[in-house]
Amino acid sequence: MSYFADKQPLVDDIFSRYPRSPQGKRSALMPLLREVQDAEGYVTEDRMHEIAALCGTTATEVRSVMSFYSTYHTTPTGKYHLQVCATLMCALAGAEELWDELVSELDVQPGEVSSDGRFSVQKVECLGSCGTAPVIQLGDEGFYENVTPKRCRHLLAALRADQKPAPDNTIPVMVNSAGLQVTYSGQAAGAPVEFLRRLTDTDLPAPPPAGSEVKK
Ligand code: FES
Repeated sequence: MSYFADKQPLVDDIFSRYPRSPQGKRSALMPLLREVQDAEGYVTEDRMHEIAALCGTTATEVRSVMSFYSTYHTTPTGKYHLQVCATLMCALAGAEELWDELVSELDVQPGEVSSDGRFSVQKVECLGSCGTAPVIQLGDEGFYENVTPKRCRHLLAALRADQKPAPDNTIPVMVNSAGLQVTYSGQAAGAPVEFLRRLTDTDLPAPPPAGSEVKK
């Protein structure tokens, strides 16, 4: 069943944020993915085809965009999705030991959900908090920094009891009507963005003339 069939106003709103050109239409791919993932927890192959049709592109391109961003998932995740940064600074600060602690404590591997439905895990590239390595990100909510194996065990114990500790750093994921970046839970975070404006067709480079060749 189609996800967007009965959500035309939402689709119109998302497309209205971008130029009407084919390039602008493809820019809507990420917010459409976000919409499906927020509603269903992950994005199936059928949804990729649906989004591709809306954006005038292919499901292969949708999948390739998804594979670039660790925020999108193609399989179900647990109630608490834990992402461990495995890039150099975190690796030097003990991310491998942290990862081993996590998968052995939870008895879960990437792509799986723990038997109680609570946890899933993923290794990811640099989360942009290298100065506080090693880092664990919880869903789209925020980072826990300087995570030692002991701190990791405390974090898991709290999450098992559904007592989510406040992240050391929250992640702004949207902009509210007042032009403020806000987190997943609606808290203001980051700088105002009132100086930003919507792109128009004239902001985009003209496509190359049909039949023209790229010079090497
Ligand atoms: S290397 Fe881990 S946050 Fe940058």
